[in-house]
Amino acid sequence: MAAKEKDKDLNDLFLDTLKDVYYAEKQILRALPKMAKAAHSDKLRAAFEKHHGETEDQVGRLEQIFEMIDKPARGKTCDAIQGLLDEGKEIMEEYKGSEALDAGMLAAAQAVEHYEISRYGTLKQWAQQLGMNDTVRLLDETLQEEKKTDEALTSLAEASVNLAAAA
Ligand SMILES: [Fe+2]
Ligand SMILES: [Fe+2]
Repeated sequence: MAAKEKDKDLNDLFLDTLKDVYYAEKQILRALPKMAKAAHSDKLRAAFEKHHGETEDQVGRLEQIFEMIDKPARGKTCDAIQGLLDEGKEIMEEYKGSEALDAGMLAAAQAVEHYEISRYGTLKQWAQQLGMNDTVRLLDETLQEEKKTDEALTSLAEASVNLAAAA
């Protein structure tokens, strides 16, 4: 992109943020199997595995969007997601074998979902403003998936994982 800083517009911002979330999803795709493997609770493991499959679809949707706007699918390093995933990794190391491990991983996973919900909410809003209707539809599909995942993790936390940590 050759646009000078002052000439940049909402299209540039949309593309930059799309690259950011594309990078994030790819990192999440690598982290989820490790989290599933570390989980003690079968239900938490199943939730991570299910979301891994959904994340593959989400990467595919982002690639469709890149194609629609005629840009190569390319990620842009996102320090925010890197930091969140590093924190999750830290919990996996520091709470290995502990009863509180699942509660910690669950909380880390929810922080990631909230990050994604924020990003997809913004992208959807901008796509609406830019009149990109097909893109809005794809972004909304992913946004709803992220929200459902967050809700599922909340129910899991309330129902069992946090109880096990407190026992
Ligand atoms: Fe995602
Ligand atoms: Fe997600």
